[in-house]
Formats: sequence, C-alpha cells, structure tokens
Amino acid sequence: SAPVPFYGEHQAGIVTPAQDRLHFVAFDVVTDKRAELVELLQEWTAAAARLTQGREAGAYGAAGGPPEAAPDDTGEALDLPASALTLTVGFGPSLFDDRFGLTGRRPAALADLPRFPGEQLVPEISGGDICVQACAHDPQVAVHAVRNLARIGFGRVSVRWSQLGFGRTSSTSRAQATPRNLMGFKDGTNNLKLEDDRLLREHLWARGDDWMAGGTYLVTRKIRMTIETWDRTSLAEQEAIFGRDKRAGAPLGGKAEFDPPDFAAKGPDGQPHIAPDAHIRLAHPSNNGNAHLLRRGYNYVDGSDGLGRLDAGLFFMAYQRDPRTQFVPVQTALAKRDPLNEYIKHVSSGLFACPPGVRDAGDYWGRALF
Ligand code: HEM
Repeated sequence: SAPVPFYGEHQAGIVTPAQDRLHFVAFDVVTDKRAELVELLQEWTAAAARLTQGREAGAYGAAGGPPEAAPDDTGEALDLPASALTLTVGFGPSLFDDRFGLTGRRPAALADLPRFPGEQLVPEISGGDICVQACAHDPQVAVHAVRNLARIGFGRVSVRWSQLGFGRTSSTSRAQATPRNLMGFKDGTNNLKLEDDRLLREHLWARGDDWMAGGTYLVTRKIRMTIETWDRTSLAEQEAIFGRDKRAGAPLGGKAEFDPPDFAAKGPDGQPHIAPDAHIRLAHPSNNGNAHLLRRGYNYVDGSDGLGRLDAGLFFMAYQRDPRTQFVPVQTALAKRDPLNEYIKHVSSGLFACPPGVRDAGDYWGRALF
C-alpha cells in the first residue's frame, strides 16, 4: 500500500487506518544533556521521514557508504515497500525532570495513572521516557524501523522494553472491517474513527496554545489473557461477558454489528439482554461521563510460559485528549466489575504525551517542548 505522509498537523499512526502489525518500543534516555536529547529527536525525525516513505534510514543507506564504517541502514527492509509504515512518538512522565530542565513543562493531563484493583504491573516492561509506535502491514518493516531508531540512539537512549503485535484489534476507519481479538470477538466496533471529525476534536486532540496543542495522550496496557480458561467457557457465558454476539459482533438483543446497544431492552425472562456488568455497558461513554477513546491495540503471542500455556493477550493502546477523564474512569469501572477480569491480567502500563505532527523538514518531534 502507498506510503503514509509523514508531515502534517497531527502525527501519523493515530487516526491512520490501523495497520496489521505493530512493533512498540519504550526507551530510557541515558544522557543527561539536553542538547543531546534535542539532537537525537532531530536525527530520529529525519530518519522517520525517510523510513516511512520506504527509504533507507540514512543518506548512504544499507550498502552505499564508506566500507570501513557501519552502514547507516541495517538493510533488512531493502526491496520491501513502505507498507504504510507510521512512526509515532510520545514522551513519558519520567522525561519531565531536572535532567533536561523540563519539570515545569509536564502537562497536567500527563498525571500518573492511579493503581487499579487487580493489576500486576511488572516495572521492567512498564513506563519509559520516550516511546515509538511503529505500525506497518509488514512486520519486518516495523521491526526494521524500531531497530534503526535504536541504532541511531546508541549512547543517548537504551531500549527499556518493546512489544510485537501480530494483528490489529481495532478499526480506526469506517472503511475497515472489524478484526478480532484472541478471545475471538470483533474488537473495535464502537471506536473513535478517522471519519468522526467532531468527536476527534472533542475527545482526541489536545487543545490550547501550549506545546501539546494538536497532540494527544497514549495509554498502553499489556493485558495477558488466560486463554486456556477462556476456551473452556461456554459460548453463552462468553457473549454475556462482552454483551455482544460472537459471530456478527451485534450487541445482544440487536441484529447487526453496528446496531446501537439498547441497554434498557429486556428479554422474555425480564432480564436485560445486555447484562448489568457486560464489558460494553461498563466501557460505554454513557457509563463514564461521555468518555470516548481511540483504541488501537494489537494481539500478541510471546511464545509460551513454560507451564503449557500460551503467553498471549492484548497489547491495548488508547489515544485520548486527557487520560484523567477518559482512560481512568473507564478502566476504574472495568477493574471493579468486569467479569472479563477472571480471564485477564494487566502486566504492563505506559503513559505518553504524543506531541503534534512534524510540519516540514525544518521541524522535529517535540520542537515546541524545547
Ligand atoms: C469494547 C474486548 C480491555 C475499553 C470492546 C469490545 C470487545 C472488547 C470485544 C466490543 C467491540 C467494540 O466495540 O470494540 C476487550 C478485551 C480486553 C479489553 C478482550 C482485554 C483483554 C479494555 C480496556 C478498556 C476497554 C482495558 C479501557 C480501559 C473498551 C471500550 C469499548 C470496548 C471503550 C467500547 C464500548 C462501547 O462504547 O460500546 N472491548 N476489551 N477495553 N472496550 Fe474493551
């Protein structure tokens, strides 16, 4: 597919129709020099502008440079098309400290997430100073991009954690078919989408005149599924948990996927079609002060766990204008009551301020912050 434009008002990779594959990486900054951090962001931006257009990371490329120097591109994406690669950057709360004189620049919306009941977060795969989300239709292209950014960052950043996702679990455009998560359900039906201009202005893009205007906030949660237990659960129970039917993805009591859920409707037994604690009821804007999210998650399988089980689940990602009034209330409602909790465990968490888009070749990621 055609390259996705890199320059624009907003970063690509957010409302861009969700690509099939993900390589997500969180870096820690290892230099304490502000000038080196700025230089890195400039070099990364230049490399990202090239990579997303299907070009090699540096001007010499994989095999065009001086033979005595390491190539300025690692080469594994040679001959591959751009594959709709997008690279989206975000800054974690830990970047806003005295190392770089950024303490006063931390946006209020980048407030640390509260602890949620039941979460079992592993610090080594949580947080990070800077994240890069690489999405593409070809996993090799996404991995190549992350690898080259890490290579360029040597001595200034080190990889804290990274996550591969092999299949999208959301649609971010009405032109896309809804994919399925590893529980077998259509995921992304009722999501913020590219075409929802008014809702995006209201619920996605940061406003105001500070450095984040036109940016957005990303929450990541690695959610492990105990799929072996799920797979022994009855179909009726599975559908009741989500409040949707498995094949069509229709809300219970409805017929087609995009029928609006009717939370008041009752069956002949007098019980609501959609249970009081169904996932789509708890997560619905009407239950959370009209909070909307742009979900952009991926299925993952990180091999097996040595105990005869797949290490698999959902790498959840959601973009929003203010996590304090969007992700936090929704996750609070889910953590308290969602019967899905019996089959899932949140093991990693990330929170990032994603700056506005890069305007042109003279601009760079986060320029207004520095
Ligand atoms: C809806 C699955 C975790 C927020 C849905 C749907 C499914 C699903 C199948 C219905 C289809 C759709 O509208 O997309 C899952 C699974 C999860 C998970 C398997 C964990 C492994 C979360 C988390 C959040 C969340 C952590 C946010 C904190 C939502 C929202 C909706 C939704 C906002 C749309 C509700 C509506 O307005 O109808 N999810 N979800 N989900 N989920 Fe989740």
